[in-house]
Amino acid sequence: MTLPPGPRLARSLQAISIQRDPLGFFQRCQDRYGDVFTLSCGTALDPTAWVCDPALVEQIIAAPAEELEAASANAIVRPLVGDGSTLLLAGEEHAARRELLAGEFDREHLAHDRGEIAEVAASELRSWRPGQVIALWSRIRALTMQIMLHVVFGIDEGPERERLAAGLSEIVELSASIALLLPRLRVDLGPLSPWGRFLRRKAAVDELLYAEIAARRADPMLSLRRDVLSFAVQARYPDGRALSDADVHDELMTLIIAGNQTTAGGLAWTLELLLRHPLELARVRAGLERGSETYLNAAIDEALRLRTPLFGIGRGAVVDYRLARFTIPRGMGIAVPLLLVYRSPALYDEPTLYRPERQLRQDARRPAWMPFGGGIRSCVGEGFARLQIGLLAREILSSCELELVDARPERLRLKAGALVVPDREVSVRAGAQHVPAASALSPAIPGSR
Ligand code: HEM
Repeated sequence: MTLPPGPRLARSLQAISIQRDPLGFFQRCQDRYGDVFTLSCGTALDPTAWVCDPALVEQIIAAPAEELEAASANAIVRPLVGDGSTLLLAGEEHAARRELLAGEFDREHLAHDRGEIAEVAASELRSWRPGQVIALWSRIRALTMQIMLHVVFGIDEGPERERLAAGLSEIVELSASIALLLPRLRVDLGPLSPWGRFLRRKAAVDELLYAEIAARRADPMLSLRRDVLSFAVQARYPDGRALSDADVHDELMTLIIAGNQTTAGGLAWTLELLLRHPLELARVRAGLERGSETYLNAAIDEALRLRTPLFGIGRGAVVDYRLARFTIPRGMGIAVPLLLVYRSPALYDEPTLYRPERQLRQDARRPAWMPFGGGIRSCVGEGFARLQIGLLAREILSSCELELVDARPERLRLKAGALVVPDREVSVRAGAQHVPAASALSPAIPGSR
């Protein structure tokens, strides 16, 4: 079999280079080896063939589960999400779980979420004072966590929500630790060791989550509740089986791990790129003043293209898999570096420039345009993520002026091996508020969750 070519660099050096400068490293590999190359850099499946050719990317996304599956490539998140997570299910079990939970983010649920998200945003914005310097990424991460706990978990404001928010945020941050990324370092050497610390924090959060699940099962108003947790505990497979407490717990952790920092990244990158491009920002604001969100949505899509929050997606070959002139042996990994694919000059003119305008053109939907994935593994939270990013961006941009405190160009780095984040925290200074925050919002839909 002919494997795709690739660097002979030691595995640890490859891993370090990718964390530090993902774009530069992958671009050098593509320049040197072409659109398909092999890396051994400590991913769950090692080695992995990385694919940048848009046509091959479409082939991979459309591949049936009998040829390519995602569970083995996602194995790195097992300690975070547990064995019962959608991310780790394969074949029929995966399809059945997707079917069971298909309604959790459907249109009806999303319509109910609008008002709740808007309220959380308005309350956050009321706390921003003119002249205050705000750590953009941290604040947005905290905001999207509050929304997740409110909308998905159905937990009202109060000490319990604060405890869970703090615990889950810490787990998400610890997930970027080297111990989690390198399974060999998963050794519990007491509460001060990285892995030991992770295990203890995780156990504390698990206890809170299981208590919440038990309380929800016992809630006499359960059938009237509209949050995802209540939906999950009432869901039944066609044979009448319900999800166990462990499965519900693992699904909740999955939504946090897959949905929190990705959504926060999509929003933070949109705001940051607009602040770095004042003409584009003016166009977005002019649209919002006319009541149109068309240009805002183009600005969001362009941010998802240029700074796609999830660096890439991975699969494992279930059979010897034909990929152009190569055959990838069964068990080997195949991955797509989405961030690199969207910078292909074959797909976009001047691909490294931020140009929301291009997203409005008829031919904007290029091959392989899938920031939320596609096929049987497509993102279950796309609608929820787009709703949050759109609503929060609209509310923030139409209610207050913001300026970057440090206008130096940012560098990208990878967090937790998968998230595209700026190298340093981005600070913004809040200016005058244009309108009382809540008045820019559409009215909350009655009976919202
Ligand atoms: C801007 C925000 C987001 C981006 C860019 C994003 C991106 C993606 C991508 C590319 C995939 C496909 C992975 C693959 O093909 O293997 C995916 C899967 C998934 N996403 Fe998202 N996502 C976002 C937000 C969310 C949210 C808000 C949730 C839930 C609350 C969520 C839950 C999931 C889950 C559960 C999967 C796994 C689906 C499966 O394996 O069947 N995501 N996401």
